[in-house]
Amino acid sequence: MCGIVGYSGHRRASEVLMDGLKRLEYRGYDSAGIAMVEDGHLALAKKQGELNVLQKTLPKFEGHTGIGHTRWATCGRPSDRNAHPFISCDGRLAIVHNGIIENYSALREKLEAEGHNFTSETDTEVIVHLLEHHYKGDLRQALTDTVSDVQGTYAIAAVKEGSEEIAAARKENPLVIGLGVKENFLASDVTALLSYTNKVLYILDGETVLLTPNGVTLHDQDGAEIQREPTVVTWSAEDAQKGGFEHFMLKEIFEGPNSIHNTLLGALDMIENGEVLPRIEFQSVKLVACGSSYHAAMVGKYAMEEFAGVPTTLELASEYRYSPGAREDPLVILITQSGETADTLAAAREARRRGCRTLAVTNVVGSTITREVDEVLYTRAGPEIGVAATKTFLTQLLAMYMLAIRIGYGNGTLSHDSMRSALSSLRQSSNFVQSVLNDVHSIEEVSRMLDNAVHCFFIGRNINYPTMLEGALKLKEISYIHAEGFAAGELKHGPLALLDSTTPVIAVAIKGDHTYEKMLANISEVAARDSPVLGVGVEGDNDLARLCEKMIYLPRVKPMFSPIPVTVALQVLSYYVANRRGCSIDKPKNLAKSVTVE
Ligand code: G6P
Repeated sequence: MCGIVGYSGHRRASEVLMDGLKRLEYRGYDSAGIAMVEDGHLALAKKQGELNVLQKTLPKFEGHTGIGHTRWATCGRPSDRNAHPFISCDGRLAIVHNGIIENYSALREKLEAEGHNFTSETDTEVIVHLLEHHYKGDLRQALTDTVSDVQGTYAIAAVKEGSEEIAAARKENPLVIGLGVKENFLASDVTALLSYTNKVLYILDGETVLLTPNGVTLHDQDGAEIQREPTVVTWSAEDAQKGGFEHFMLKEIFEGPNSIHNTLLGALDMIENGEVLPRIEFQSVKLVACGSSYHAAMVGKYAMEEFAGVPTTLELASEYRYSPGAREDPLVILITQSGETADTLAAAREARRRGCRTLAVTNVVGSTITREVDEVLYTRAGPEIGVAATKTFLTQLLAMYMLAIRIGYGNGTLSHDSMRSALSSLRQSSNFVQSVLNDVHSIEEVSRMLDNAVHCFFIGRNINYPTMLEGALKLKEISYIHAEGFAAGELKHGPLALLDSTTPVIAVAIKGDHTYEKMLANISEVAARDSPVLGVGVEGDNDLARLCEKMIYLPRVKPMFSPIPVTVALQVLSYYVANRRGCSIDKPKNLAKSVTVE
């Protein structure tokens, strides 16, 4: 969630850095700063708060080399003092850092004893003092020596006075170099670079980099120089802009059909040809994820058992990594849109340590998880800037179905015809999403039901139980209304006690699903407590409509695939409620897009 940018070239570096930091805002931050090489000396500007606070106090820097950072507090509260960059005691070196230094207390004690004066409460500050301790005229070597002293995770960028050099290193935190002509860039996320270049070099764990306007050199852990071909990124800078929508979130919801198309592109053929998961000899599957991705995993469990008949278990990544692991799960699927969630990465390592085969479902090519697992399935949803997952969640659902169908066909549960029919339903799913989006204004209208709610319940059964958990998560994330999702059958075991006319209940019942009648019964129980019910069902379902105060209608969809349009309808619902409440939709308070701490 912290962001790093670096620049060395012919432009005014402060402008490039501030522009890059702006593009990283979506990652979530509470303070920001830059360090510049100005007239041969280092100059620092850092502030708690949003980038415009920093911008207002920024001196007119003229230098051409610098580093910048947006911080999301983990060690030491948000403050000007704790903001990055940090500068050495002699004022000659400055650094920015993403990640956590685990042995910082011991290092700090040692460095203080040597006379280093600390000015912050952060773990990061030890890095700049260590760098100063090791610096003997070679910045890259000093950084290599520094990282060999630290335990933990990091992406670090360092500059020194009177120099155009930027040195950087990474371990379990992303770092990417952007290549230009007589200028080079560095960032923790490719989004920060796209308006300058699409030629990038991904830095791998253990590597260090030295960047100047005229070149970039990479070194491996042992100090040997390595060559790497640049990758050409196909995302344009415009992909990462709002494109006329009021918020990134709405834009990204509307990108759903196209994202689905991209997710399926290529992958469907690969599934039919058996190229995805070429070996399918396993008796059970475990799905591991956090947040919205966990809800996608829940849908995946239903799909896996339906299409493949494979016993499937679920675990939150933050729990899996510390679980006893009594029985090894032959295949562990890790779902993470960012590919950088600390708990999911740790779970991937744990799964491999336990001897499991690992497969990651992620949206970000080159993200850390892709290097931690045996196989990867990309969701290809494109960049998602809104903190609340929308199109990335949708495409995770597609990935879950695809994997289940692949495994089911491979193990003989699905015949060739059934496999083709299931894949054809997936192909049609972008039309279902489009038809929900064609009618967003009727969802906007019924969403007014939630405007004054303090509490809201979301209920569903079977494969739409997880979509209601996700619906509730979305509403609480962006509107700050207390929302909870329940398996409808569980209402009478407690939550029913909380219902009255002030608590709207959003209930999904898909005609044709084997739990449909049971859902109608649960909705009647709710209505009998005077709770206003907003029904989500298929067009023409008068039985459901009779029980509900208002309705959201979906196209007629096979129940098994209904989570796809249901998800989009609930994303739109939350969006309009939050918008009328004037909430910070793209950057909800206290939340971050990518949670790189445990
Ligand atoms: C954060 C985001 C959520 C996301 C979760 C897991 O909490 O705000 O939207 O679902 O992380 O992220 P991942 O990248 O692993 O899917």
